[in-house]
Amino acid sequence: MSIRIIGTGSALPAKSVTNEDLAKLVETSDEWIRERTGIAGRHISTGETVAELSAAACSRALEDAGRTAEEVDLLLVATCSPECGVPCVACQVQGMIGAAHAVAFDLNAACSGFLFALHTAWAYMEAGICRNALIVGAEVLSKLVDWTDRGTCILFGDGAGAVFAEYGGKEKFYFVQHSDGSKGGALTCDTRQLKNPYVEMPMEAPWIRMDGREIFAFAVRRVPEGIEEVLGKAGMTADDVDLFVLHQANYRIIEGIAKRLKQDAEKFPVNLDRVGNMSSAAIPVLLDELKRAGRLKSGMNIVLSGFGAGLTWGACVMKV
Ligand code: COA
Repeated sequence: MSIRIIGTGSALPAKSVTNEDLAKLVETSDEWIRERTGIAGRHISTGETVAELSAAACSRALEDAGRTAEEVDLLLVATCSPECGVPCVACQVQGMIGAAHAVAFDLNAACSGFLFALHTAWAYMEAGICRNALIVGAEVLSKLVDWTDRGTCILFGDGAGAVFAEYGGKEKFYFVQHSDGSKGGALTCDTRQLKNPYVEMPMEAPWIRMDGREIFAFAVRRVPEGIEEVLGKAGMTADDVDLFVLHQANYRIIEGIAKRLKQDAEKFPVNLDRVGNMSSAAIPVLLDELKRAGRLKSGMNIVLSGFGAGLTWGACVMKV
């Protein structure tokens, strides 16, 4: 037995922001952003929270699966941009959608978060701990972005995606996961400073800081390695794969990965032109768009791969 993804859903904030809009805030241009990243627009929260976007994506995934919130056993939210430390986003979502019988908790592996959450849910189901799971990737990164830093504010967007998976079915899922904390300084975001009656630490600006070139080089090297590794576990080669659903960070990164795997770029669907980099929400939102567009056909071999801060990266082979 294995697991099956039987429903997907997503939600984006109502406000869409173009590159031209950003050129009014920082010294940049539509041409520069498109050429270096492939991004033309993104959705930015004007009030929607991570929990609200997650709840909307979950409701759509449950509707797509033909299941009710009361039936959910496990509710996992991958996010690095929760509104508060406690309660976790998953518990907030549980309350909003009425998933009264679910166990709910969050997981943070930045842009690999959805993949790591899917792997966790798979392991829970394989171990018999639960029979089904709602797995969510959700971010409101716009509150972590320094809107005066043109090197980062052009990259990110807000949104949420969810899948509903159940135990059952014959097609096996294969996973690999990796982390390298020694390189964590390449992409950071501070939260609160230590401030108590005994100490006050100097405050770093609590915004996303990134060495773009280092992250670029890491992604183009490590992601193809991870994909080859998971394909090896599944006894497959890249030629056997119908679609590579990758984290949507930068179109040039995706092109570089396709080249290393010697695969046609057509096998790598993209939506980053419309939504930017939504960190852990990128893969489930893209999966939902592909499913609703009828591009996920029964029997297809799909590779998912996420990579990002930590550093973290991972890949999964699954059939739909
Ligand atoms: N508009 C115009 N110019 C910009 C700019 C912007 N938005 N951002 C940076 N520049 C400038 C820089 O200041 C620099 O100018 P200088 O040469 O006068 O110093 C020049 O463009 C080149 O900057 P650089 O950072 O070397 O550009 P790059 O080709 O590496 O592209 C990124 C920058 C961020 C697009 C690219 O490194 C990238 O996408 N990296 C991966 C980031 C990522 O995906 N992070 C998330 C991972 S999950």
